[in-house]
Amino acid sequence: MRWTGIIRILVIVCTLLSTWYFSEKIFTRKWETRSLMNYFEKETKDHKSHKKIHRKCGNDRDCPETYFAFKIISGAAKVVGPSICLEDKILMSSVKNNIGRGLNMALVNASTAELLKTGHFDMYSGDVKDVQNFLEPMKDGTLIFAASFDDPATKLDDKTRDLFGSYGSSHIKTLGFRDSWVFVGGKGLKNKSPFEEHIKNEKDKNKYDGWPEVLEINGCIPKKMD
Ligand SMILES: *[C@@H]1O[C@H](CO)[C@@H](O)[C@H](O)[C@H]1NC(C)=O
Repeated sequence: MRWTGIIRILVIVCTLLSTWYFSEKIFTRKWETRSLMNYFEKETKDHKSHKKIHRKCGNDRDCPETYFAFKIISGAAKVVGPSICLEDKILMSSVKNNIGRGLNMALVNASTAELLKTGHFDMYSGDVKDVQNFLEPMKDGTLIFAASFDDPATKLDDKTRDLFGSYGSSHIKTLGFRDSWVFVGGKGLKNKSPFEEHIKNEKDKNKYDGWPEVLEINGCIPKKMD
């Protein structure tokens, strides 16, 4: 009788202990799972809000489906090179090592945003014929992105200015020594481009010693639809 009593008590104690042990485990696990879920939720939220912040080319707004996002920044004086971004891809920049003093240009398929070619042309001591040879084979349905760096204009002649005019530039006529200029045009455009900015090099207005300030344009270009 005494022994069975002791065994009964032992069994009860063991049951209590194991119940406590497992419930403790389960609750801890649950608690851990819950906090892990909180963590993931927080991560996803952060991720979402982060996503909201990153837009193509770092622009302020998203472009509709049928548009390409772009950003062009002109060179700063003769120090910092220009950059051209399209659909979140850098087409030209110092890092890509495909820019230089003068006119920096990228030609792009206006239906697909495919990069066709890039070129930079020294307009202080280079040959303007190189610019014409770059531009003239352009087919209808090609976009042209241009950015100045240092001096984009000294060597420009009427023929080359007329070419840019035919791609939609309004300011090319007056583009001069060390002006800042950014431009998006196209072959086969019927109107003047809305994507162009120009600041004259004027001694008393210049931001830098000898050069006007940097220009940046960004926005959405309608895809060419056939
Ligand atoms: C642009 O790409 C489309 C589709 O590949 C092609 O049919 C068209 O000829 C290209 N246009 C230019 C100007 O390269």
